[in-house]
Amino acid sequence: MWRCPVCHAALTPHERSWRCASGHAFDEAREGYVNLLITHQRRQRLPGDSPEMLRHRRSFLEAGHYGALAEAIEQRLPAGHLLDAGCGEGWYSRRWPEQRPGSIVWAVDIAKEGVRLAARRAQRSGSCHYAVASVYDLPLLDHSMDAVVNVFSPVHSEEIARVLRPGGVLITATPGPEHLLGLKRHLFEQPELHDGAGPLDAVAAVNDAVRKVDSHRLHYVITLSSEDEVKSLLGMVPYAWYVDEATRTRVENLPRLETVVDFVVSVYAW
Ligand SMILES: C[S@@+](CC[C@H](N)C(=O)[O-])C[C@H]1O[C@@H](n2cnc3c(N)ncnc32)[C@H](O)[C@@H]1O
Ligand SMILES: [Zn+2]
Repeated sequence: MWRCPVCHAALTPHERSWRCASGHAFDEAREGYVNLLITHQRRQRLPGDSPEMLRHRRSFLEAGHYGALAEAIEQRLPAGHLLDAGCGEGWYSRRWPEQRPGSIVWAVDIAKEGVRLAARRAQRSGSCHYAVASVYDLPLLDHSMDAVVNVFSPVHSEEIARVLRPGGVLITATPGPEHLLGLKRHLFEQPELHDGAGPLDAVAAVNDAVRKVDSHRLHYVITLSSEDEVKSLLGMVPYAWYVDEATRTRVENLPRLETVVDFVVSVYAW
């Protein structure tokens, strides 16, 4: 289902590379992912989340605090070709072939380190394919996906409409109003709330081609019971960038933290 980022023709696998009919070729890395981000699509040297953020997110997610979110997404997921757009280190989507037998996962992120970690963990299972690519220029054939999933990553509705097959769905997870409020109260005097809207609510309100078919709010309290867990949470979100060193150090060294997590899972169809 990958398409060539240069000429948009289908890519097919040849030993350890993917090639199109015009001879553009993209080698697979040792871990089994392919880099389909061509130079002009890359505005920074290391785009997307930093390797450090990705590693913090991996250890936080592996502790299971977001398991209920993963389940809420899976309950809404069809079987088939499933795109994880902005997959990070792949924690959500590597479960999908087991949850939806026969499904194939296509996962992209603009951060190479995320894709590398994801591909290494999935170990060439054959059911998960990984590429470095942007959600604003997806390296996927038109109308090839049964579902696109965006978990806390940028959403680009035109590209999603292009790659979804007729009847396909977009599932998004975005922050609800009180997401991580317990953590934010330690960092900011007056923490701001998220608006809690789904990413395409405004588009669906004015464009008949997009329909919002489901919205589900998930709200619960998590307890982090070690400094390492608190450090991982702080390291995977951008909030710490906005506070002074002393505040960051104080919060990083909290031995325990309780916070609300608040997610909005939205489903859109075209
Ligand atoms: C908050 S993280 C979420 C990652 C993953 N979905 C998860 O929940 O664990 C946002 C991700 O979007 C990626 N990202 C940012 N801009 C992107 C773009 N233009 N194309 C693809 N991925 C992008 C970042 O590199 C990062 O991995
Ligand atoms: Zn080509």
